[in-house]
Amino acid sequence: MVLILALLGAGAAMLQLQVAEAASVFAHFMVQNSYSYAASDWESDITTAAGIGIDGFALNIAQNDYEVDRLADAFSVAEQQHFKLFFSFDMSYSWASSDMVSIVQTYATSSAMYTWNNAVLVSTYSGESYGDSFWSAFKSTLAADGITVILTPAFTSYRDPSDADSLMSSFPSIDGFFNWWSWPADVDANLTTATDLAYQAVVKSDRTGPFIMSVSPWQFKNLGTNDSDWVELSDTLWYYRWLQAIQDVKPDIVEIVTWNDYAESHYIGEINPNVDLGDQAPNYVDGFPHTYWRNVAQYFISWYKNGSTPTVTDDQVIFWYRGWPKDTTCSTGSLPRNYEYPVDAVFALSLLSSEATVGLYIGSNSFTWDAPAGASIGSVPFPSEDAQIPYIEIVRDGTTTKSGYGSLNVTQSDCSYYNFNPWVGIID
Ligand SMILES: *[C@@H]1O[C@H](CO)[C@@H](O)[C@H](O)[C@H]1NC(C)=O
Ligand SMILES: *[C@@H]1O[C@H](CO)[C@@H](O)[C@H](O)[C@H]1NC(C)=O
Ligand SMILES: *[C@@H]1O[C@H](CO)[C@@H](O)[C@H](O)[C@H]1NC(C)=O
Ligand SMILES: *[C@@H]1O[C@H](CO)[C@@H](O)[C@H](O)[C@H]1NC(C)=O
Repeated sequence: MVLILALLGAGAAMLQLQVAEAASVFAHFMVQNSYSYAASDWESDITTAAGIGIDGFALNIAQNDYEVDRLADAFSVAEQQHFKLFFSFDMSYSWASSDMVSIVQTYATSSAMYTWNNAVLVSTYSGESYGDSFWSAFKSTLAADGITVILTPAFTSYRDPSDADSLMSSFPSIDGFFNWWSWPADVDANLTTATDLAYQAVVKSDRTGPFIMSVSPWQFKNLGTNDSDWVELSDTLWYYRWLQAIQDVKPDIVEIVTWNDYAESHYIGEINPNVDLGDQAPNYVDGFPHTYWRNVAQYFISWYKNGSTPTVTDDQVIFWYRGWPKDTTCSTGSLPRNYEYPVDAVFALSLLSSEATVGLYIGSNSFTWDAPAGASIGSVPFPSEDAQIPYIEIVRDGTTTKSGYGSLNVTQSDCSYYNFNPWVGIID
C-alpha cells in the first residue's frame, strides 16, 4: 500500500513537472500606457495576442496609481478569454512592499493569474537594489496569507555570465530568473546566448522556478536627453533571437519585449491612438506600425511550442527598414548613441510553403536569394538614389507569385527627426 502510494506520488510529481515546464510565451505589457484604456482596449490587445499564440501578458506596473485601477478590466477580460497575466513590478520606480502585497493579494486567486507549480509567479524589471531582505519579507507576508510566490525577477545589473553564481548567493529568495537583455550591449556585434545560458544553468541547478528568456525585435529610443537617446544593433534580431530561443536556450518561458513600449521601438502591438506617447516618441512612432512583426512571432511561437518547424501554407515576406541612412542630418531630435551600428539596408524575412527565389529591389540595388521552405532572411543595401521605395517579389518556377512595395521612401535628405525605428511591411 505504502509502495503504491509512493509510486502514485512520483507519477503525479512527474506529470506536474511536465505541465509546468511546457513552453509558454508572454509579452511584456506597459500598464503605464493603459491610462485611457477601457475594457474594449484590453479585449482587442488580448484577442490579438492570443491569436498568434501568446499565452499572456507580463504586466509592467510602475507605480501604485491609475495602473492599479486598470487591472480590474485586464483581469476580467483575461478571465473570459482564458488568457494569463502575471505582475512584473517596475522596481526602477519606488515601491512600498505593502502596496505590492496588496496588488498580488487582490488577484492571486483569479483564474487568469499565471501560476508555476501552483504558485503565483511574480516578476520584475530590476529590483536588486532593494536587497534580498525586501524580497524575502514580500514573499513571507504573502505566504502568511496563504499565497506562495515564485519570484522570477529581471535583476538587470546581472548581465555578465560570470555574475550568475553571485546572483544565487546574494538572493536566496529568488526562485527563477528573467534575463531582460535581448539586445547587443552597445556593441557592433550580434547578441549571443551567453547570458541566457549562464543564468538558466544556475536557476536549474539551485531553484525550482522558471528561466524566462527575453526576445525582442528592436531597440531605439530618442527622448531628447543624452541618457535616453540610443539604438542597439537590431537589424536581424527578430530572426536570430527566436532561433536562439528555440534551438539553443529552450527556456521555460519566452517573454516578448514588448507588446506596447512605443518609446523604445520594440512594440509588436498596434499603435493605439488613445495612448499618450508624450512629446518626443510620436516623432518616431507615428506612421511606423510593427503589425507584421507579429506574423514572424506567430511562426516562431508555433515552432517553440511544438518543437517542430511549422508548415507554412501561405507565402509571405515580412520586411523592415529605416527611412533615412544613418549619416543623414536631421533637423530635430539627436543622433542616438550607437548610430553607426545599424546597416543601411532593407531586411526581409520570408515564410514560404516551398522553395522560391525572393527578390529585393531598391533604386539601382537588388538582392535575390534562393529561400527554402520555412523562414529565411535577406537584405538589400540602401541605394545612392534619393527617395526610393523597396519592391519585393517571390518568384517560383520563373513566375512572380507575389510582389509589392513598401510605403515609406528611403530619403537622403529632408529628415525632420533622428528616427532609427523601422517601418514594417508585408507582401502576402
Ligand atoms: C549579425 O547577423 C547577421 C545574420 O543574421 C549577419 O548578416 C551580420 O553580419 C551580423 N552582424 C555582425 C555585426 O556580426
Ligand atoms: C549630449 O552629449 C554631447 C556629447 O557628449 C554634448 O555635446 C551635448 O551637449 C549633450 N547634450 C545634452 C542635451 O545633454
Ligand atoms: C506539431 O507539428 C506537427 C507537424 O506539423 C503536427 O502534426 C502536430 O499536430 C503539431 N502539434 C501540436 C501540439 O501543435
Ligand atoms: C517617394 O518619393 C517620391 C519622390 O519624391 C514621391 O513622388 C513619392 O510620392 C514618395 N512616396 C511616398 C510613399 O512617400
